[in-house]
Amino acid sequence: MPILCGQAAAGVLAPSIGGQVREAGTLQDAARMVEEDPAETLVVIGPDAPIGDALAFASTLRLHRPAVGVILARDQVDVALLTHALRAGVREVVPADDPMALAAACQRSGEVSRRLIGAAGPDAPAPPGRDGQVVTVFAAKGGCGKTTFAINLGVALARDAGLRVCVVDLDLAFGDVAISVQLEPARTVVDALPMAGHLDRTGASSLLTRYRPNLDVLLAPVTPGDAEKIPPSLVTELLGVLRGLFDYVIVDTPAQFSEHVLTAMDASAHHVLLTTPDVPALKNLRITLDMLDLLSYPRQIRSVVLNRADSKVGLGLDDVERVVRWPVAAHIPSSRDVPVSVNRGEPLALSHPGHPVSQAIGKFARLRLTAAGDPAAVSRSRGRARGRRRMA
Ligand SMILES: Nc1ncnc2c1ncn2[C@@H]1O[C@H](COP(=O)(O)OP(=O)(O)OP(=O)(O)O)[C@@H](O)[C@H]1O
Ligand SMILES: [Mg+2]
Repeated sequence: MPILCGQAAAGVLAPSIGGQVREAGTLQDAARMVEEDPAETLVVIGPDAPIGDALAFASTLRLHRPAVGVILARDQVDVALLTHALRAGVREVVPADDPMALAAACQRSGEVSRRLIGAAGPDAPAPPGRDGQVVTVFAAKGGCGKTTFAINLGVALARDAGLRVCVVDLDLAFGDVAISVQLEPARTVVDALPMAGHLDRTGASSLLTRYRPNLDVLLAPVTPGDAEKIPPSLVTELLGVLRGLFDYVIVDTPAQFSEHVLTAMDASAHHVLLTTPDVPALKNLRITLDMLDLLSYPRQIRSVVLNRADSKVGLGLDDVERVVRWPVAAHIPSSRDVPVSVNRGEPLALSHPGHPVSQAIGKFARLRLTAAGDPAAVSRSRGRARGRRRMA
């Protein structure tokens, strides 16, 4: 989403930039916003920014983020200003009182950015520092806590580890990530349809909804019937592009082995399989483990997580491991604070980072995802796009 820097004339300039705009009070704020958002492609600097600072800002960006266009809106435009501006790498200088000129400049700049980014292509290697891991969170029985876990894991990774994280709501028909964190689903997966087959990073970024610093969400469609329009190939494409933008892409799933879920698993470096300590959930987990074996997904990338581990009605840890014949990698305690936090629309990891549930999810993130030398890391590169193809 374009950044508009400066207060003066913001009301006049913002509508000309098109779509939604993020306002930055100062150039320092704008620099921070660009830094935090690798998909950003446009900064418009209003007339109140000191010209020397604006030019220094542009020349720094030109070196470090050449795909980001800088447009200067000034009260007066003369030849000397144009010369200095172009030398500094400013894409265009427009009169602050000419909304049409600004709109046209923004469009041209967008085209340049798209070409610069598109030259790399969606399958191009991720820029330095971004070769993201896709983590699919799955349970074949509904209500095991997938959505709760996925969101809190995203919060923990983005905050504790300072990583760029995207949570993808792949529960296409009944996704509830948006409602769980009180986000307005203005853009959803369904908006990717026109880009299918040529989705690039700019296009993928335009689908995202910012939730917290470092944490974006790709929301599920809201209109009934939209879910069926999404082909599994689009999921592959989306996850491939998002990996280039984020350190971790956490995929929340529906409670069935749909083609979309298997597609996400193909793209994943980690499979997190959730269960609760009750017989139906454990039976479904056992079937899931057999199914993943049958499809030849590597076992090393699997983590079984026992949610509501200490619930009094449930089975003990030993019973769980005996029934599913798989070690439990993490236990998340049961707490009424979890549904309370969902109803409030604020993940527990955000409102209460010290809560035992938040701590358990944070510990899982550290031990299984971010720790150097974790067992799953060994097979990450081999972990993608494997088994089903071999079986086909
Ligand atoms: N550790 C926990 N302690 C107490 N309640 C929990 C815990 N984890 C999840 N819940 C509650 O269980 C319910 C189901 O959780 P959630 O929606 O995350 O599950 P899900 O697997 O995504 O469900 P669905 O299959 O419907 O998508 C919610 O009311 C949630 O608040
Ligand atoms: Mg869910």
